[in-house]
Amino acid sequence: MRPTAIVSAMAQEMAALLALCEDTRLQRVAGRDFHCATLHGQPVVLVLCGIGKVAAATTAVLLAERFGARRLIFTGVAGGLGAQVRVGDVVLAETLLQHDMDASPLFPRYEVPLTGRSHFDTDAALNTPLADAVQAVLARPDHHGPDAQALGVTAPVLHRGLVISGDLFVATAAQSLALQGALPEALAVEMEGAALAQVCHDLGLPCAVLRTISDRADDSAHVDFLRFIDVVAAQASAAIIGQWLAD
Ligand code: ADE
Repeated sequence: MRPTAIVSAMAQEMAALLALCEDTRLQRVAGRDFHCATLHGQPVVLVLCGIGKVAAATTAVLLAERFGARRLIFTGVAGGLGAQVRVGDVVLAETLLQHDMDASPLFPRYEVPLTGRSHFDTDAALNTPLADAVQAVLARPDHHGPDAQALGVTAPVLHRGLVISGDLFVATAAQSLALQGALPEALAVEMEGAALAQVCHDLGLPCAVLRTISDRADDSAHVDFLRFIDVVAAQASAAIIGQWLAD
């Protein structure tokens, strides 16, 4: 069977997933370590993406062309934009858009030139069981643990909808307000997902993008982000992916 690719944004996250794997073999391509392994009896290839849209696109193409991946799951963190989206919540992207794409007036704002589209969808058939896995993990009483509670994470919930990506760490309330104003339906902002979704669309591969909210993309985003990724993010993604592949 062709492998499922699990693309992590952070080393902490991939380490937690690797710890669950068996028969791991390492292949280094284009400066990235690809870990081909078995997870809950299924072939997987795990890789650290790098940061930004180009890194995500390169990683996605390599997974498809060199490793024969049959589907791609991206896991990582994101800044919350939607009013109800809080630190510790999980966002499953149903569709993604590049918020820094603007070839106007030649093409409508956000439209990827010559594709006729601004939004790239994830795969509904992947999202349904992933959402079930998220709900199962969030319902665990020990989810996130006491360290997360110290960061103010209580009763995290799942959101599904629009995630926006750009080559920008959103770290001021002014930037966040501008994005909220321009794209009011956006739940979260990150730096890779829309690029991965565009490549998967071109290659005809199903993909999913799963993000845990690490900050509110405001003036304290960088502080919250750094505190959160060590405490929560690694465990959250590994628990969700582990649950999903085990089901
Ligand atoms: N990933 C996590 N937090 C983010 C933010 N505030 N901006 C962009 N990407 C992020």
